[in-house]
Amino acid sequence: MDAITHLFVYSIFFSLFRISITQNSITPSQSIRDGGTTLVSADGSFQLGFFSPGNSNSRYVGIWYTVSSETVVWVANREASLSDHSGVLKVTDGGILVLLNSTSGVVWSSNTSRTVENPVAQLLDTGNLVLKDRNDDDPEKFLWQSFDYPCDTLLPEMKLGWNLVTGLERFLSSWKSTEDPAQGEYSVRIDLRGYPQSVSMEGDSIKTRPGSWNGLRFTGYPQLRPNPVFEYEFVLNEKEVYYEYKLHNTSVFSRLRVNPSGVPQRFNWVDRTQSWELFFTSHTIECDNYGLCGGYATCNTNKSPVCACLEGFLPKSPKNWDSVLDWSDGCVRRTPLECNGRDGFLKRTRLKLPDTSSSWYNKSMSLKECEGMCLKNCNCTAYTSLDVRGGGSGCVLWFGSLIDISEYSNSESGQDLYIRMATSELEHLEKKRRSAEIKLVAIIVSSALLFVGMTIVALVSCIWKKKLKTQGTTKISHGKEDMELPMFDLAAIANATDNFSNNKKLGEGGFGPVYKGKLPDGRDIAVKRLSKNSKQGLNELKNEVILIAKLQHRNLVKLLGCCIQENENMLIYEYMPNKSVDFFIFDQAKSKLLDWHKRINIIRGVAKGLLYLHEDSRLRIIHRDLKASNILLDNNMNAKISDFGLAKSFGGDQIDSETNRIIGTYGYMSPEYAVHGQYSIKSDVFSFGVLVLEILSGKKNRGFCHPNHHLNLLGHAWKLWIEDKPMELIDELVGNSCTLSSVLRHIHVGLLCVQQRPEDRPNMSSVVQMLTSESLLPKPKQPGFFIDSPTTDFSGKHGTSSANEISNTVFEAR
Ligand SMILES: *[C@@H]1O[C@H](CO)[C@@H](O)[C@H](O)[C@H]1NC(C)=O
Ligand SMILES: *[C@@H]1O[C@H](CO)[C@@H](O)[C@H](O)[C@H]1NC(C)=O
Ligand SMILES: *[C@@H]1O[C@H](CO)[C@@H](O)[C@H](O)[C@H]1NC(C)=O
Ligand SMILES: *[C@@H]1O[C@H](CO)[C@@H](O)[C@H](O)[C@H]1NC(C)=O
Ligand SMILES: *[C@@H]1O[C@H](CO)[C@@H](O)[C@H](O)[C@H]1NC(C)=O
Repeated sequence: MDAITHLFVYSIFFSLFRISITQNSITPSQSIRDGGTTLVSADGSFQLGFFSPGNSNSRYVGIWYTVSSETVVWVANREASLSDHSGVLKVTDGGILVLLNSTSGVVWSSNTSRTVENPVAQLLDTGNLVLKDRNDDDPEKFLWQSFDYPCDTLLPEMKLGWNLVTGLERFLSSWKSTEDPAQGEYSVRIDLRGYPQSVSMEGDSIKTRPGSWNGLRFTGYPQLRPNPVFEYEFVLNEKEVYYEYKLHNTSVFSRLRVNPSGVPQRFNWVDRTQSWELFFTSHTIECDNYGLCGGYATCNTNKSPVCACLEGFLPKSPKNWDSVLDWSDGCVRRTPLECNGRDGFLKRTRLKLPDTSSSWYNKSMSLKECEGMCLKNCNCTAYTSLDVRGGGSGCVLWFGSLIDISEYSNSESGQDLYIRMATSELEHLEKKRRSAEIKLVAIIVSSALLFVGMTIVALVSCIWKKKLKTQGTTKISHGKEDMELPMFDLAAIANATDNFSNNKKLGEGGFGPVYKGKLPDGRDIAVKRLSKNSKQGLNELKNEVILIAKLQHRNLVKLLGCCIQENENMLIYEYMPNKSVDFFIFDQAKSKLLDWHKRINIIRGVAKGLLYLHEDSRLRIIHRDLKASNILLDNNMNAKISDFGLAKSFGGDQIDSETNRIIGTYGYMSPEYAVHGQYSIKSDVFSFGVLVLEILSGKKNRGFCHPNHHLNLLGHAWKLWIEDKPMELIDELVGNSCTLSSVLRHIHVGLLCVQQRPEDRPNMSSVVQMLTSESLLPKPKQPGFFIDSPTTDFSGKHGTSSANEISNTVFEAR
């Protein structure tokens, strides 16, 4: 009993004590001064007071988390800063919150259309600052609340959207910069045209489109799923349209913020580390760029090129579509609609639904009614269910062009869309589908027959060989394999290259000079004349070449054949008209031709080619000399890796015993390879990382110089990364064609690849996955070789930055 009394007294004492030092509200007789106290919400989570963002001297009134005072979630006077510490925040008798400066001028104020008897301004546990009557806690009766005027942060229980009765729009808008909370260029809002959708804007234009709500999530936001931290809902009725989330456990903080670069990011507070952890960051993939593919086309990040016309549609500007990779004109119908009841619909699945700004909806119609409704209106181009839950309900109709559709590979993410087509076009597509099916069946049947046939042949030849063996002869002919790889005649090659004339020389490749040639049939070829120091026998060489020829992938240069004759060993490749990546990225004028999309496409191409060499080909090839000049570009600027497979056959062992030389190129070599001659697939990953950073920055790693430090490109990138300004790495010539998060992801992956320890670097399958998804990435550690050159490890003198980088430079090792 005694103990309970004690406890009671203590708790009263404690709460009195608390009230005396912190308060969560002010009345007209009180005020908050700059440099004085702050308001603290009753549960202690949030505080309100004066602050200066970053290194700025301007003063603002804001609300922040008690655990993390630099995390400001709301700013009152974001457009009107105070220049000194004389600000005072007060509540007027009429129930208006005012911020006064030293001369009692009103710098900022809240507004209201009503007055109450006993006004107070109170900071609630949710982080909402409200003006209300002291005795009335009904949210409907608040005079004013900060949640109605969001800045860049959406807190739990805050509504993002519209009050349709008063016309109040609540939207997120970025800060101008980390030091200026004034409204910046970027906003996230709900677009009320047609069926309401969520959009992320830059000024007045849509940048990315999470899209319409399908009952479970926004159609373009498959990451939004039930999770242990928060639950969410989208409300759409006559009075309100908004998105909102609530915490499962209010002692776990989570916030959604649009950063000054316009990227929506969700952070969760981690108690253990006392820091915010990035839980989700938005639009990191190419297809998220609004309208990238134009009308009537789909975007698929896993395909190359990413854009494709819907079935039954053709590119509107075929020239731009195929060669310049400019898809913005979109596609047009192959067969016009007839609109006299003779149209039908093609069903597509797993899609992000198109822009709904010119759409119409009804929540209670069935899909069948929806179809009928669409057929009745000649301008209707597509329809689908409004809500996918429980087999689907409701109806959305689209009018006019279908814009910003993406294709998902995961069936859970996408939705069905019924696209209107002329009946004749539908019949045509159906016929095509049938014949493809028939072909497939034919292939299956014929391969089954072939299998049976081959089994018989194998059996027979087995018996035959046994018979031969017993007779003492084991000669097996190479004739069949030779047929797989065309052997070119030396005279023909000499002819095609004007007898290896200097005019035809394309460059000095890794293993000898390369010439351009033209075959009598008109085909352009590239001829690699291998240096003559190969000690291999003719048959061994042939076998190696045959193996290389078997490596076929769209991101590898295709080997057409070889010529092994009179002491000459030559490889004949397809000719790449656009030369190599270094030709573009390191040249002021030409690098403008490589915008962000093309650069991403090249990086992905190289990643996929390398993944094939490392893991998917039968041979497991380590390239050992991956670099910008070994990445060739085809007509459509797709990357093709060259010089693969040669290191093994033509480069000898990792350290050639006679010359003591290492194959590889300065600036691309991993530390363990350069220093100890150890190479593995992770050395290629290192070279890949260097290449990525070079493509992003337009600077060479080797020979990189900076006025302020002696680091090489890797060191420079790492420095910017840890100083939290990675964007400064990017080639200014890339222009505005890139999205911040995508850039950050590529820099991040580049840094992961060049980490000092091989075991820390990801393998190529992880790299490909990291580049094409939005998964969270591990933190990179310090890169290997971040000082200008590895010569310091050998000779003790600092390497001079000679920027000339002849292909396949080799260096002396002791
Ligand atoms: C205070 O604010 C008023 C009104 O905004 C303005 O006219 C006045 O110049 C300000 N005084 C100072 C010292 O900034
Ligand atoms: C309050 O101010 C905002 C912006 O200044 C204005 O749009 C809104 O109509 C005002 N509300 C009332 C109730 O006066
Ligand atoms: C909420 O989280 C806190 C701290 O992580 C934990 O102690 C508490 O048990 C949780 N409450 C509920 C209802 O899960
Ligand atoms: C929506 O469809 C239902 C059923 O067809 C109909 O009763 C209702 O009037 C429609 N609502 C609107 C706004 O058109
Ligand atoms: C179809 O669109 C045209 C042009 O936008 C418009 O004039 C016409 O009224 C529309 N027809 C229907 C049935 O909505």
